Amino acid sequence: VLGPVTDLEVVNKVIAPDGYSRPAVLAGGTFPGPLIAAQKGDHFHINVINQLYDTSMNTSTSIHWHGIFQHQSNWADGTAFVTQCPIQPNGSFLHSFVVPQQAGTFWYHSHLSTQYCDGLRGPLVIYDPKDPLAHMYDVDGESTVIVLSDWYHELSTQMVTGPFIANATLINGLGRYAGGPASPLTVVNVTQGKRYRFRIVGASCDAWFNFTIDGHSLTIIEADGNLVEPVVVDSIPVFAGQRYSVVVTANQSVGNYWIRSLSNHPNQTFEGGQSSAILRYEGAPDQDPTSQQGPYILPFDESAFHPLVNTGAPGIPEPGKADVNINLIPGLRSDHGGYTINNVSFVNPPLPVLLQILRGETHPSQLLPNGSVYVLPFNKTVEVSIPATELTPGGALGGPHAVHLHGHAFDVVRVSGNGSYNYVNPLRRDTVSIGLQANNDNVTFRFVTDNPGPWFFHCHNDFHLHNGFAVVMAEAPPEAAVQESKTASNAWWQLCNATEHR
Ligand code: C2O
Repeated sequence: VLGPVTDLEVVNKVIAPDGYSRPAVLAGGTFPGPLIAAQKGDHFHINVINQLYDTSMNTSTSIHWHGIFQHQSNWADGTAFVTQCPIQPNGSFLHSFVVPQQAGTFWYHSHLSTQYCDGLRGPLVIYDPKDPLAHMYDVDGESTVIVLSDWYHELSTQMVTGPFIANATLINGLGRYAGGPASPLTVVNVTQGKRYRFRIVGASCDAWFNFTIDGHSLTIIEADGNLVEPVVVDSIPVFAGQRYSVVVTANQSVGNYWIRSLSNHPNQTFEGGQSSAILRYEGAPDQDPTSQQGPYILPFDESAFHPLVNTGAPGIPEPGKADVNINLIPGLRSDHGGYTINNVSFVNPPLPVLLQILRGETHPSQLLPNGSVYVLPFNKTVEVSIPATELTPGGALGGPHAVHLHGHAFDVVRVSGNGSYNYVNPLRRDTVSIGLQANNDNVTFRFVTDNPGPWFFHCHNDFHLHNGFAVVMAEAPPEAAVQESKTASNAWWQLCNATEHR
């Protein structure tokens, strides 16, 4: 476990998390990367040191702290070509930021190309010593962080045009693949009678997972760093980038139970321990479980989740009546060269958007990449509405898509598959699935532009992001220019100078 003040080395290493050896890009030399554990209010000083040399994958890097608002520290967001220049081999970058209000379950990952698919992903938890839901659980520690990930035997650099089919699903970095050896699985140890806060991290590149624990229900208390009114379910769909805290009571007879993370990718069906870990009660034999799946009777319904402390959605509570209303229509490029939003495919600009803003370019017509930067005024309410499907033959290609906004959590006033709007007590989160429904199933969310800076908004299926499924929300560029010129570290300025003149 690392604290909030630490070095984090990015290294190449050959690993075999499912019994198949492949080279990888790793934070701290492990998969997943080490847990970064902090307390609410902490100052972070994380020095990312790039020791990469294997040119079969990307050798430059950047690390993003997914879900952290980076209020007044946009420059530390870690997003290559949006908020910073990539860190070159043998370079380093000091992320120095404060997180005054947020607590909960987060993660970190490379934000350069598809590099995190090659391994650079890990959990980040901010513990709240005054957690208002602390009375609901007895145990919350390193052993209760559960990182779900898809794992590929091919390097991401070999898969850029698809298909993106995972070979295995890993839980805390261990799993098995079809036809592979009976590789070890993660064991989560519990004591009968105790209540555990499991922090589930959807550290996925593409796949989504249906998370269940045989014989146990899951009481959801957190979604993406936001506490929710407790809801009891027995399965949770976890999309790329999403996190949940669930309370699990060890109330079954002493034994072994499968923890299942069933992927939507093919050849991942549960058999002989694929896609799974083991929940082991103290006193149970050191054996694989024989527990049965389901029955599932407590369905997951995103529209039934409400914030523990409710403020309601900002602005006039009617669709399209925010100060700024934006429709983002995903599509496919006619040359099949990737995804578009409002007919534009995102391409990396020659200079990070933040650097453009610092140079005084604040108008949409000036900001690159052309057509992908949405300039937003300061301190206004924004409503974003996105249909599920690409409106092309073939429907929602590669869906369901999970979209993520940096710098904010947003109020999801309309969830996928539910036609009604809720401005009264909508779920607040930072990554939402736009689903697979046909036309007219818009996912709609709101946020307030109280955090100046360019924030990436993109599909968290990393291959989709890499193929253009992204825009930048340039929030209050004039205010961002003033703020960031004061707060950006020397490391930030040096990095961009070095890159510019390389
Ligand atoms: Cu998990 Cu652009 O981020």
